[in-house]
Amino acid sequence: MGKNKLARFAENKILPNVIQPTREDALKGFKLKGKWRENFFKNDNPIVLELGCGKGEYSVGLAKTFPEKNFIGVDIKGARFWFGAKEAVDSNMTNVAFLRTQIELVDYFFAENEVDEIWITFPDPQIKYKRTKHRLTHPDF
Ligand SMILES: C[S@@+](CC[C@H](N)C(=O)[O-])C[C@H]1O[C@@H](n2cnc3c(N)ncnc32)[C@H](O)[C@@H]1O
Repeated sequence: MGKNKLARFAENKILPNVIQPTREDALKGFKLKGKWRENFFKNDNPIVLELGCGKGEYSVGLAKTFPEKNFIGVDIKGARFWFGAKEAVDSNMTNVAFLRTQIELVDYFFAENEVDEIWITFPDPQIKYKRTKHRLTHPDF
């Protein structure tokens, strides 16, 4: 693992817009579930998720374009979304956050009707036939 990746993992722990719950946090009742607006964003604005946000370019770009909405980039690769998280903090943006989790667990983090919009931008194509069930757009998902 490259040094830069380790440094990004370390910085993710202190960035205020990065949330990295454990699986146990999710399963036992996640503290922000149903309370993202009230306890995290501190406003009543709509919440938009970007599933598989990668480096977070879209989440940050959309958050800049639509300051009246709250954006949450979701990805399992923290060293990738560090780029977006860092840019958002450096730009004093308060309407974008990053959640590190498996997308399969997303129901544990948001209450019914808490999310207003979902974006899936350029997901992994999973081109091998046996992998197609892992596509984010597969009906089982
Ligand atoms: C092809 S990249 C696209 C990144 C970004 N949306 C973009 O357009 O630049 C797909 C991203 O989805 C994430 N991803 C795929 N399946 C996932 C899953 N089940 N849970 C969490 N993240 C996932 C990968 O880690 C990767 O960063």
